[in-house]
Amino acid sequence: MGHVYNFSAGPAALPREVMQRAREEFLDVNGTGLAALEMSHRSKSFIAIAEQAEADLRELMNIPANYKVLFLQGGATMQFGMIPLNLLQGKNKADYFLTGHWSARAVDDARRLCEVNLAVDASDNGFTRLPPSGEWRLDGDAAYVHYTPNETIHGLEFHEIPETGGVPLVADMSSNILSRPVDVTRFGLIYAGAQKNIGPSGLTVVIVREDLLKGIPAGYPSMLDYALHAQAGSMYNTPPTLAWYLAGLVFDWLKRQGGVAAIEQVNIRKAAKLYEYIDGSGFYSNPVEKPYRSRMNVPFRIADESLHAKFVQEAEAAGLRNLEGHRAVGGMRASIYNAMPEEGVDALIEFMREFARRHG
Ligand SMILES: Cc1ncc(COP(=O)(O)O)c(C=O)c1O
Repeated sequence: MGHVYNFSAGPAALPREVMQRAREEFLDVNGTGLAALEMSHRSKSFIAIAEQAEADLRELMNIPANYKVLFLQGGATMQFGMIPLNLLQGKNKADYFLTGHWSARAVDDARRLCEVNLAVDASDNGFTRLPPSGEWRLDGDAAYVHYTPNETIHGLEFHEIPETGGVPLVADMSSNILSRPVDVTRFGLIYAGAQKNIGPSGLTVVIVREDLLKGIPAGYPSMLDYALHAQAGSMYNTPPTLAWYLAGLVFDWLKRQGGVAAIEQVNIRKAAKLYEYIDGSGFYSNPVEKPYRSRMNVPFRIADESLHAKFVQEAEAAGLRNLEGHRAVGGMRASIYNAMPEEGVDALIEFMREFARRHG
């Protein structure tokens, strides 16, 4: 079989070098004679792996000392509930930016726990653009402001960090963490499901400013309490050890690519060439207005929708996998996270050109 490129939105492609290294050291990590898979999380060998992963993530994102980094479970979806539980801190309302499928999910969970003020609602434009900051309806008394910097399904990305006037900013960075430098000090809390730019599913990274770790109100289970996880070094219970180890390999790989600033340049180039081809093709289209287009997830359609299934099928056969769009929006989607090499995007564009030539 020729080269296969995986455009899945998540669990997504991991860097090839990472998977090769994981295979090489599968039975014996760091000369311990043990597989990461079978190590006690309390063992010295695993703690060394865990600490190195955290140190590398801190270095990659330049995370200040007054932020805790937590390695949790439950996916980004668990955070939709943990955030209001932990961050309301006596208040009863929070601001949310509704910009697509995933922020809508976050809003749904928050509504179970508090009053939600939709400071931004992009549903009226079909999630194809973000209103300018002058139109945001921020409530200065909100406990926090939640937004989704990259909407994985709608392909909409914030290219600036919102200004919230001192109200803690909370970001679901599941699909663009580590794809570009961000100033962590602008955030109260950042969270990300691992299965796109960090590693395999089963792990969720939370980066939280220490002063926000006051503990959840009485009456809720311990596993929902950030303060407890922070105190226990993310080992209050058994953490997802294999996923943590693999995340560490990805962080190490990213450092060797030159870090986040260097991978951002590659990401800009990959996205630019794909959008440029789509816009100029006269055959494919992307609905998102240019300033808000995602560098990570590129949805596209063909005017004649009856060709969608054929496109996906022929792409699969050509080694271009998982290009089917999310069932919520249909069409196609190319997810081009850090691990997608530029040649993968070139191969996709070449295939799209050829498909258009035959069917246009
Ligand atoms: C932006 C965003 N938030 C949340 C989720 C849900 O993540 P999980 O399945 O890890 O709960 C996803 C999943 O793709 C996502 O892309």
